[in-house]
Amino acid sequence: MMKVVYPGTFDPVTNGHLDIIERCSKKFDKIIVLVLNNPSKKHMFSVEERINLLKDVTHELGNVEIASFTGLLVDYMKENQVELIVRGLRAVSDFEYEMQMALMNNRLYDNAETLFLIARNKYSYLSSSIVKEVASFNGNIKGLVPEKVELAIKEKLKGV
Ligand code: COA
Repeated sequence: MMKVVYPGTFDPVTNGHLDIIERCSKKFDKIIVLVLNNPSKKHMFSVEERINLLKDVTHELGNVEIASFTGLLVDYMKENQVELIVRGLRAVSDFEYEMQMALMNNRLYDNAETLFLIARNKYSYLSSSIVKEVASFNGNIKGLVPEKVELAIKEKLKGV
């Protein structure tokens, strides 16, 4: 069975992430979307909230599982018998950081391989932070995130 893990912070999931998830779900038997914490980032949504939003927007895809983990990605992979990591590449600027992570993950776990999917052009400028920033100034984020996520961001910002 071809099983892949798609790790990220997903704070929150955007249509760019969803596009990668949908494309993977057609090519692999199972895709585990893994919510991890990047310690250098300040989060808007708790891990539980991020998981719930991911579950909500992927529930129609039968082979997608949502999970979370605290610790190294490779430790999750060893514990769960996954050897393939999927990451999206939006632009050349992503490459250096992604290559560093791919090489480090491979150094830490010899069996770990990283596959890159090129993000679709229409999402190549998208990031969770830019969506949150635009929303925080009442800008229009329709079409950039699923509707449920748009509502969740607006709800969060009410409380700020
Ligand atoms: N469409 C839209 N946006 C995308 C995207 C796509 N296809 N692909 C990436 N992005 C955006 C994300 O929204 C995110 O935006 P943000 O910076 O505004 O939050 C940004 O690109 C990259 O974030 P993400 O993919 O979530 O990665 P990350 O750099 O925050 O974290 C982890 C990467 C979580 C995989 C990494 O930190 C990790 O593995 N952590 C666990 C600890 C570990 O093992 N560390 C050693 C790693 S070598």
